[in-house]
Amino acid sequence: MYQIIKPLLFKFDPENIHHFVTGGLRVANRIWGVKPLLKSSFHLNDKRLEREVLGLKFKNPVGLAAGFDKNADFINDLAEFGFGFIEIGTVTPLPQPGNEKPRMFRLPEDDALINRMGFNNQGVDVVAHRLSKFDRKGLVIGGNIGKNKITPNEDALSDYIKCFDKLFDVVDYFVVNVSSPNTPGLRELQEKEPLKNILNSLQQRNFKNDISRPILLKIAPDLTDSQLNDIIEIVTETKIAGVIATNTTISREGLISPESLHKEAGGLSGKPLAKRSTEVIRYLSENSNKAFTIIGVGGIHSAEDAIEKINAGAALVQIYTGFVYEGPGLVKRILRGLLRSGELRVES
Ligand code: FNR
Repeated sequence: MYQIIKPLLFKFDPENIHHFVTGGLRVANRIWGVKPLLKSSFHLNDKRLEREVLGLKFKNPVGLAAGFDKNADFINDLAEFGFGFIEIGTVTPLPQPGNEKPRMFRLPEDDALINRMGFNNQGVDVVAHRLSKFDRKGLVIGGNIGKNKITPNEDALSDYIKCFDKLFDVVDYFVVNVSSPNTPGLRELQEKEPLKNILNSLQQRNFKNDISRPILLKIAPDLTDSQLNDIIEIVTETKIAGVIATNTTISREGLISPESLHKEAGGLSGKPLAKRSTEVIRYLSENSNKAFTIIGVGGIHSAEDAIEKINAGAALVQIYTGFVYEGPGLVKRILRGLLRSGELRVES
């Protein structure tokens, strides 16, 4: 069905169609009979898909990656597609408009997207308030946090702390995003000293509370082996819960789309990212001796792609671009594939 309407959807600007589809979904969900129909079409509930990871219970290991529902506007509606978890954000302390449009581009020949959204979001107060009204019904919610564009890197810590404190009661896990290519200088925070400082400070606050929240670090696929070794050292030392690998890439290697599209600034996602993000997952898993949880994301467009990430060391997976290209049925197709393959690892 999705493959029939996709050519029509792909005729329009990608960002406009994103808003049109999510808005339309919300309206449709209010029509009597639509919710149960979506549930019966897209949900797959099976005990064998349940996972206990990060001290949290997931009804299945397939999540929606950050960036799709930046403002936690559509969680209820997106949940109808059968996700085991949804990550909202990236959220910053102050609302910000992001970069000028157009800032999202399709590369259909490559099953890929390039985006330079620039953390457009309504700010942490609005998002925290919205989440406080949300009835989770067993859905795990991640809060992906970042810094405002106007905040210099020296003050980045205070932005992460503000977001952490304000979202603490309304999310199940946190993701520290220092890997978006679209906020100038942000990726410099992946260097050893600033990163240790941010993660140690968040952990200190975390352990001051009666309960603590798992904190994960989202990393870029463009890090060298030596930088990945630093990441392993930092994650182990700061005792955060794990890593999300990976964000979008600044590489344009192997693309077959027209040259003019490669030149668009921003992060590349989708199929061309799959191999590198799996390599990063495998490297982290093997070289850390599986010391922490890895959530695998990058170019998952089929069950086989998800299984590759799990075999490389991911406990959970997330999708974004695959959801756009393959449609909402992708979640169930991945879950079916996982059941069929028997590749589900039992978490230790
Ligand atoms: C993203 N991604 C992203 N990641 C993040 O941590 N914070 C964000 O705000 C965004 N925003 C965003 C917008 C758009 C339009 C895209 C396509 C992607 C990155 C995303 O979560 C994921 O890590 C990558 O897209 C790789 O996965 P896929 O898309 O290949 O499945």
